Amino acid sequence: MPKLERMPEDHIYQAYGIYLLQNQHRFIRRLKKLYEPSVHGHKTWGSSFLLMDYLRDEPIKKKSTVMELGSGWGPGAVYCAAKFKADVTAVDMDKDVFPFLDVLAALNDVEVKTKKAKFSELSSKQLGANKVIVGSDICFWDSLADDLLRLMKRAFNGGVERIIITDPGRPPFYELCDRAAKKYDAELTEWYATEPSQITGEVLEVRPR
Ligand SMILES: C[S@@+](CC[C@H](N)C(=O)[O-])C[C@H]1O[C@@H](n2cnc3c(N)ncnc32)[C@H](O)[C@@H]1O
Repeated sequence: MPKLERMPEDHIYQAYGIYLLQNQHRFIRRLKKLYEPSVHGHKTWGSSFLLMDYLRDEPIKKKSTVMELGSGWGPGAVYCAAKFKADVTAVDMDKDVFPFLDVLAALNDVEVKTKKAKFSELSSKQLGANKVIVGSDICFWDSLADDLLRLMKRAFNGGVERIIITDPGRPPFYELCDRAAKKYDAELTEWYATEPSQITGEVLEVRPR
């Protein structure tokens, strides 16, 4: 069992060595009065803890360049910056998620660059500036499976080495897995996270053939 660490104030919690904020935290309550994420980017989703757990087992090389797709509040981005000293860019189509991400980055004393863009707008060059691309709970509509499959092609053409996407197990995500496996070296693994509580889901890791 790990050492019990007292949190500095109410509504802060820890998972995989990073600090996160609950909705009741005063900073989150204040930000929610000013910004309204509108594409499900209104909280830290459970799949982000699957991503952290998976990366603890299958780490990224220190100081790699990393892009988090559909970052929302950026738990994956903050984790990669904190644990691997990665140079991280968080991408989301909804600019209203970034103030929440900025607060989480500051709380964890890391820098994360942000970029407002849709998956379909990211070029081969922009994607290929990163060794690794990660995402958690970003394939929840059929159209997103199409967008992400096309993005994989551009990313691998640009030189990306690994794409890792975690998911609770939604049908569009499985469709993406099936289609990715026909073109790339794709591995789908059932996974569970134990922090901040037990969460089960799936991890897709895709590499070029
Ligand atoms: C379910 S949330 C997950 C957020 C975060 N990854 C997490 O695990 O906490 C999905 C995020 O993807 C973003 N998103 C959805 N479709 C997108 C697209 N086509 N391009 C870029 N971002 C997108 C949403 O704005 C939202 O922040």
